[in-house]
Amino acid sequence: MRKYLCFGIGLMLFMACNLGRDKIPITPELKKEMENRQIKKLSEAQIFAKAIDLGRQIADDSQKTLAVNLKSAISTKGISEAIQFCNVAAMPLVDSLSLQYQATIRRVSFRVRNPKNQPDSLEKEILEAYQANLEKMLPPQPNVQQIDDQYLLYTQPILLNNPLCLQCHGQVGNEIKKEDYDLLKKLYPQDSAINHQTGDLRGMWSIKLSKKAIINSM
Ligand code: HEC
Repeated sequence: MRKYLCFGIGLMLFMACNLGRDKIPITPELKKEMENRQIKKLSEAQIFAKAIDLGRQIADDSQKTLAVNLKSAISTKGISEAIQFCNVAAMPLVDSLSLQYQATIRRVSFRVRNPKNQPDSLEKEILEAYQANLEKMLPPQPNVQQIDDQYLLYTQPILLNNPLCLQCHGQVGNEIKKEDYDLLKKLYPQDSAINHQTGDLRGMWSIKLSKKAIINSM
């Protein structure tokens, strides 16, 4: 009998709590607080590990599409037509990955063709570290940095390890045909992405991920 009574009281308390809870309106502030708590529940290490996975997946997918587009454009239409296929910002895949992961996907470099691909101060530091590692012959590794309490930056070095790249990033008059360079200069008057050799650090993928999106994908 006592058992049933306890159970009954427990049930009533439970219902009362639930009734009470229903009355609390979910304001935007409360929603943010709940999200912040969720972020705290997962350890920073777990979030960083997932950022590495996600970033790598986004960079690899983008890189693959870029390579396939470039190769087929060069073989069917020639360099002048292929020039437009090296702009990742114009790739539909990058658009859909950005939407899917709420990520900002860029490629940055110290020697840019498109001034939009210039690195910011954090990206500069990371690029310098990649360059130093390459000179010490250390294997290129992806990296994750904290931007602020809401965003992380995933980066991955881009090595110029395919002779195909030299047709647009090599030496003018040698690997780059004079007429192709005229077109490149017309489109990118401040171009400094030439005179590269295979094995050079061409730049890096720079992928800004929100912690919220990382958690949602876990
Ligand atoms: C057909 C010509 C062409 C080929 C081949 C080519 N690129 Fe590019 N590359 C460009 C153009 C044009 C841009 C500027 C794109 C933009 O507007 O963002 C560019 C930009 C880049 C950037 C961004 C930084 C910057 O300089 O603005 C990287 C990194 C890059 N290319 C790497 C490569 C790699 C690696 C290869 C070989 C797999 C390659 N490219 C092959 C034409 C080419």
